[in-house]
Amino acid sequence: VIVTIDGPAGAGKSSAARALADRLGFHFLDTGAMYRAVALAALQRQLPWDQPDLLVDLVPQLQIELLPDQVLVDGQDVTAAIRTLQVTSATHYAADNPGVRAHLVQLQRQMAEGHDVVAEGRDQGTVVFPHARCKIFLTASPEERARRRVLELEKLGETANLADILAKQTLRDLRDAQREVGPLVPAEDAILFQTDGISHEEVVERLEQLVRSRQ
Ligand code: DC
Repeated sequence: VIVTIDGPAGAGKSSAARALADRLGFHFLDTGAMYRAVALAALQRQLPWDQPDLLVDLVPQLQIELLPDQVLVDGQDVTAAIRTLQVTSATHYAADNPGVRAHLVQLQRQMAEGHDVVAEGRDQGTVVFPHARCKIFLTASPEERARRRVLELEKLGETANLADILAKQTLRDLRDAQREVGPLVPAEDAILFQTDGISHEEVVERLEQLVRSRQ
């Protein structure tokens, strides 16, 4: 069984999808982490961003592993490193690159093969798993999402400015929505879920009910 959760940054997707996967006993596929991992690897190798083919060539050389609580690249733990502002700002180079997307989409399908999965990202219901049993599009207002992101960054020990985060988020939303390959749009058969003012626990509870009603 595949459940997809798509939506913009900061809608609470990651934490909701992870908790939902736990409750259902499904694997959790954090596809944003994969785009972040590619961006980090490119930064570490100082690849020039103006040569997108180099990025495409890099992806099949990387061994990306999503463990329950860790992201590994070539055996190295990059769980925290892929969440920094620097990597977050650079990730669009990976996400906007059709060649990179093609590789990662294939890898995501491979990772899901033979498992029950909650897959979280932007294009999971539209591109990667068009036949998913249950598709959810999770969203929240821009202000709410930016506030959540600030809290997340502060937890990582980074100082974050709300106005700055909001501006960057608006830019990312635009890029995500306008991308030619795998843009952020709800699948036609997705259930829209607005999370403003709803607690994390309540979101997870409602998602679980939704999925169980479809099993
Ligand atoms: O969900 P996130 O913030 O970890 O995602 C990081 C970036 O990767 C974000 O800019 C959107 C992009 N992304 C994507 O294009 N497709 C996905 N399936 C997941 C993430």
